[in-house]
Amino acid sequence: MDWKPKTIMEPFKIKAVEPIAITTRDERKAALEAAHYNPFSIPADKVTIDFLTDSGTGAMSAAQWAALMNGDESYAGARSYYRFEKVVKELTGFEEIIPTHQGRAAEKILFQTIAKKGIYIISNSHFDTTRANVEYTGAEAVDFPAEGALDWEKPAPFKGNANVAAMEKFIKEKGAENIPLCVMTVTNNSLGGQPVSMQNLKEVKELCSKYGIKMFLDTARFAENAYFIKTREPGYENRSIKEIAQEMYRLADGAWQSSKKDAIVNIGGWLAMNDKDLSLRCRQLLILMEGFNTYGGLAGRDLDAMAVGLEEVLNEDYLRYRIVSTEYLGNAMLDMGIPIINPPGGHGVYIDAKKYLPHIKPDQFPAQSLTCALYLEGGIRAVEIGMLMFGKRDENGKFLPADMELVRLAIPRRVYTQSHLDYVIEVFGHLTAHKEEINGLEVVEAANILPHFTAKLRPVSGK
Ligand code: F0G
Repeated sequence: MDWKPKTIMEPFKIKAVEPIAITTRDERKAALEAAHYNPFSIPADKVTIDFLTDSGTGAMSAAQWAALMNGDESYAGARSYYRFEKVVKELTGFEEIIPTHQGRAAEKILFQTIAKKGIYIISNSHFDTTRANVEYTGAEAVDFPAEGALDWEKPAPFKGNANVAAMEKFIKEKGAENIPLCVMTVTNNSLGGQPVSMQNLKEVKELCSKYGIKMFLDTARFAENAYFIKTREPGYENRSIKEIAQEMYRLADGAWQSSKKDAIVNIGGWLAMNDKDLSLRCRQLLILMEGFNTYGGLAGRDLDAMAVGLEEVLNEDYLRYRIVSTEYLGNAMLDMGIPIINPPGGHGVYIDAKKYLPHIKPDQFPAQSLTCALYLEGGIRAVEIGMLMFGKRDENGKFLPADMELVRLAIPRRVYTQSHLDYVIEVFGHLTAHKEEINGLEVVEAANILPHFTAKLRPVSGK
């Protein structure tokens, strides 16, 4: 009798627990006001379900905690580095492995080495820190999402792909000599945690080779991408996740990773490539800004935990649970008629706030308003991907409406169970029944770079 269980059973048991806050609506109202309607400013102790990010928020395994005790804290040539280097080399095939304290440090080192004013960096979609690091050098970051990627409601298996034809047109226009690098973000975080197919990676690589442009992968969620390839791309169903990941990396000239996602550690990252000359130049900045070659801004023990996490994440039972849990939440929301990026992504569910809250004016931060309502009604913390995050303003400093007004519910790895997701679904049921009562917001104060982290807002007057 072969049967398939419907329950999404976590393929692990719980050895250590951490209490979460159960709060009243009055407490949450006070916390939201004190945070100036910016969930980034709410103390985590006042959050019940924290879907702000899946970055650095995962639960380490017993094996990772054990590895920490074996960390070698030698300044140079630590055993921990060699263990980490071996795992990353085997996974990626790259020769030069540079540890960094997190993903954006790798981005900073890479782009300060290769980019400057007059240069373009092309991508399926730059993540916000990637874009900020490119633009900080004076270069321009240009996105080429696949056709249909921005049609949120229409499902397609690989909405994270790049539009190769549009990329080629741009290369011809601007001149390949002004485009040193193409970044393929796997999975595509900015556009819904959607995967990139192997086919698309191959086509982009072919295009880059034709014009002498390097292709690098931004691989925060490489294992989730590999799982989608296995389950959605013909020809990969019988390949292991590790083989698929190895093939992805071997198509590229280099890669970096925020290890706070798919290496399931609380801190860490790396930059890797084959080009020795480029790596030497990157290492000069590494030593200046991060630390010596064999620790890169991390403790030795962090490198051990990364080495273990990078292998654990390739486990197919884990990845199935991970992806099916996200789908479970996404599908429940679709059933309630909530407009989400369809299909749900690997690490989270993205709600189209413009469509969900049509009564909120486009310049009144629809997505930020929804994040505030989610906290107020359910103690759930999510993140806005909309006009506040994009931060485009007119000459008077007024924020401009954005094409995209999304709310991302990013699910930490191995942290919440199915009953936590059921609670979130219940909150959405309640919210949906009362959504006309949600108010728009206006900005009181905001920084010029990455304003969403620290901005202060208030409900629009007259409401
Ligand atoms: N690239 C991608 C695709 C990311 O998602 C992130 C971080 C980074 C690079 C930067 O890495 O945070 O280690 O410096 N994403 C987090 C998020 C912050 O919430 O999606 P980092």
